[in-house]
Amino acid sequence: MGAKKSKKKKIVLAYSGGLDTSVAIKWFMERGYEVVCYMGDVGQGADAESARKRALEIGAVKCVVGDLKKELLTDYVFRALKAGALYQDKYNLATALSRPLIADAMVKVAKKEKADAIAHGCTGKGNDQVRFEVTFHLKAPSLEVYAPVREWELKTREDEIDYAREHRIPIEQTKKKLYSIDNNLWGISIESGKLEDPWFEPPKDTFISVVPPEKAPQRPEYAEITFDKGIPVEVNGKKLDPVKLVSMLNRAGGRHGVGRVDMVEDRLVGIKSREVYEAPASQILYSAHTALEELVLDRETLKYKRGVSQRYAEIIYNGLWFTPLKEAIDAFVDRTQTRVSGTVKVKLYKGSVIVCGRKSRYSRYRESLATYGEGDVFDQSLAKGFIDLWALPYKK
Ligand code: ARG
Repeated sequence: MGAKKSKKKKIVLAYSGGLDTSVAIKWFMERGYEVVCYMGDVGQGADAESARKRALEIGAVKCVVGDLKKELLTDYVFRALKAGALYQDKYNLATALSRPLIADAMVKVAKKEKADAIAHGCTGKGNDQVRFEVTFHLKAPSLEVYAPVREWELKTREDEIDYAREHRIPIEQTKKKLYSIDNNLWGISIESGKLEDPWFEPPKDTFISVVPPEKAPQRPEYAEITFDKGIPVEVNGKKLDPVKLVSMLNRAGGRHGVGRVDMVEDRLVGIKSREVYEAPASQILYSAHTALEELVLDRETLKYKRGVSQRYAEIIYNGLWFTPLKEAIDAFVDRTQTRVSGTVKVKLYKGSVIVCGRKSRYSRYRESLATYGEGDVFDQSLAKGFIDLWALPYKK
């Protein structure tokens, strides 16, 4: 019963609905695989239903769509936010954070489906292949891993379109895409095309969720963000679930031209690459979170944590999410966040986030120590002895 069918090997493919992964379905079928597609919904806003239908039309035996939006924020993004992770001090790692999540979800599907293999549609030049494959290796060492785009004979987009026509693969639009875009709730990564020239200024057509700052309203907009143990929980006094909170701040920041980054970054594979990012909510939340930490953390913890932030960013960037060092750093970061609760007031104005107020019941700020006015309790007579000893080791 069904013995003939069970001979076929099964593969779980990360599918986006785009050209590469649509072609990949057929490519694996031609090589004798039964293809199960997996689409992770991380808030990219693509039409999952029509993409799912297309996968089945092409010949996938199944297309699983997983809603990963909340998990992306609570289990990945907020960890990076608490850690203060920004790759090369700029990139919030939106794409990088989504990869281990999607890969892990794919592994779960592969186990349920008793698949023999697993695959993704990344090229051989980027970081994403590393993030997917490291997760596959760590979570399901027995699965065969394939990266068709890295292997196949289809060298250009035109080759792929020809292949799609030949094989009657329905594709959304054959129009040449201007840029390569990866989109999720935490940010949009835009690269390639004309942006490959680092001198070329991103034109209007590269803006997706953020208005150019010069087109932003003349009037600033205020927002008050409340954190509980380092996690944002309220905006303007209103409790919001993570997805709503981030979506709302994305819109607010986007209106005011907030959250654009234009940088040249170092990929793990050794290439420098020019990247444009949009991450309005992220820029607001990083600014606010940092301001709250300034208020509640002691000087030495703040200083020490800066090094940890950098290291954590590199771990995420380099695909090492499911590793012991990452877990150990999480424990450290969580310990630092026990008092990062309070509210920060920010002003959004023409491309910038201006922190203009902060308060917390754990504040270490003492007006009675800081003041130059009435009620000063700082004993200035102690300063002389302190400075004498401070200078002592350097005296001839
Ligand atoms: N450079 C970023 C990273 O490695 C973004 C990659 C985005 N991928 C894409 N297909 N546009 O995380």
